[in-house]
Amino acid sequence: MAAMDVLVDRMLRRPSGVLARRWWRDMKSHHDIFRDALAALRPVSDDHVIEIGCGGGTFASWMLRSGCRVTAVDHSADMVALTRRNNAEAVAAGRLAVATASAGELPFPAGKFSAAVMTNVFFFLDAAPVVAELVRVLAPGGRVVVHTLAADRPAAVVPRPVVRRMRLYSDDELAGLFETAGFTSVSVGRVGGGSFQLVTAIRGDIEH
Ligand SMILES: C[S@@+](CC[C@H](N)C(=O)[O-])C[C@H]1O[C@@H](n2cnc3c(N)ncnc32)[C@H](O)[C@@H]1O
Repeated sequence: MAAMDVLVDRMLRRPSGVLARRWWRDMKSHHDIFRDALAALRPVSDDHVIEIGCGGGTFASWMLRSGCRVTAVDHSADMVALTRRNNAEAVAAGRLAVATASAGELPFPAGKFSAAVMTNVFFFLDAAPVVAELVRVLAPGGRVVVHTLAADRPAAVVPRPVVRRMRLYSDDELAGLFETAGFTSVSVGRVGGGSFQLVTAIRGDIEH
């Protein structure tokens, strides 16, 4: 693997090590993204939200302010530890659970969550199995919000070596992925000056 790919993986795809832990403690450059995702998700105190690819746990702490419960997962053990440390009070209060897990194989029973959210991670994943997992772990009527990079001009906002490690989709492709998996009311909007896609959808009342 090229040295640049190793760096992208170490810092973004599966952050690990001292530098990555420092970087992800609070990724301020993602705050606009978090604002957009939070406005779309609108968590309430009755919600139990699953966040996939939680990084350092900043977005989890933003969601927790609504009074909801959050289960945050990441496949990086370092990010799981950082999310726990950054949200120690919520963990102690039983409002935040954090687990090491892969997006395509979530260790939770069907229908456990009322909402799901992903920011800055969908573009690193094999989409179809992950969307199928979202359908499985959401209760009927559950909401999903996915914030990801649009395919049309990624290099305008993300360096090329990072883009090379990503899977990007047109708006129609994204909508099709969610509809095929069993989501309804699927909408793919543009945010961040048009460079990012914000998918919102509702898990349909379907059997799997
Ligand atoms: C670019 S960071 C984004 C972190 C955070 N969501 C944010 O927006 O600031 C991507 C995160 O997703 C995690 N991740 C990547 N692929 C994953 C997978 N297949 N399953 C679970 N977590 C994954 C990485 O370990 C990393 O913490």
